[in-house]
Amino acid sequence: MKTVTLSTLQAFKRAGEPFSCLTAYDASFAHTASQAGIEVLLVGDSLGMVLQGHNSTLPVTLDDICYHTRCAARGKTASLLMVDLPFMSNTSTERLLNDAGALMRAGAELVKLEGEAWMAEGIRELTRRGVPVCAHLGLTPQTVYQLGGYKVQGRDAEQAERIINDARILVEAGASVILLECVPASLGKAVTQALDVPVIGIGAGPDTDGQILVMHDVLGVTHGRTPRFVKNFMTEAASIQGAFTQYHDAVKTRAFPAPEHCF
Ligand code: KIV
Ligand code: NA
Repeated sequence: MKTVTLSTLQAFKRAGEPFSCLTAYDASFAHTASQAGIEVLLVGDSLGMVLQGHNSTLPVTLDDICYHTRCAARGKTASLLMVDLPFMSNTSTERLLNDAGALMRAGAELVKLEGEAWMAEGIRELTRRGVPVCAHLGLTPQTVYQLGGYKVQGRDAEQAERIINDARILVEAGASVILLECVPASLGKAVTQALDVPVIGIGAGPDTDGQILVMHDVLGVTHGRTPRFVKNFMTEAASIQGAFTQYHDAVKTRAFPAPEHCF
């Protein structure tokens, strides 16, 4: 695989070719996922749940994410490395810039943040300084306590309209990528068609430009209730790299997500 950059993702969007994304938190798994052809790796704050055992992403610190970013950056090969800003990095523009700077110095190539239209100002300041941004909309796990649980977002027309508008505003502010989590497939499609930038989905239906899953879900090592959009690719694979390859191929051929993974 050739080195994946933002331009690669834009070209995928123009060509109508889906791309695969997967979380990775250390050198070995980042290497294995890169070798399997996964185009984007995410050092997600989901590490608070799958690595640290918390029941939300809120306890994860900037230092935790920087540590895992340095690890993943050493292992990955051609994949693009996206990294999450932690909970409360957005308390001020200054903090946002400092935290994003720390992630970039640790090896991030694209910084992801959660937030609605009000994050436009922060996104403008980041992109102005050369930090490309992915804006995460829909179900935003850092606001789980305000949302009242991990629930599908944008089910009614008014909510759906707001998500489309927020995405437009954030792209106008400079966001290079949008990530949509847990929304009806129809909304995933509408946002993808409305925007010129690549849209990555998780539980957002089959029509987004990219798909992402948490590595532990792909390998079937998540305990407790797994969400509807998850698929264990280990059941038919002989190795971890094989499972990653099957996930990648399923995304590229649009075999994943199937209707049973969608809302
Ligand atoms: O932290 C994470 O893994 C994420 C993905 C689920 C999109 O934000
Ligand atoms: Na996250």
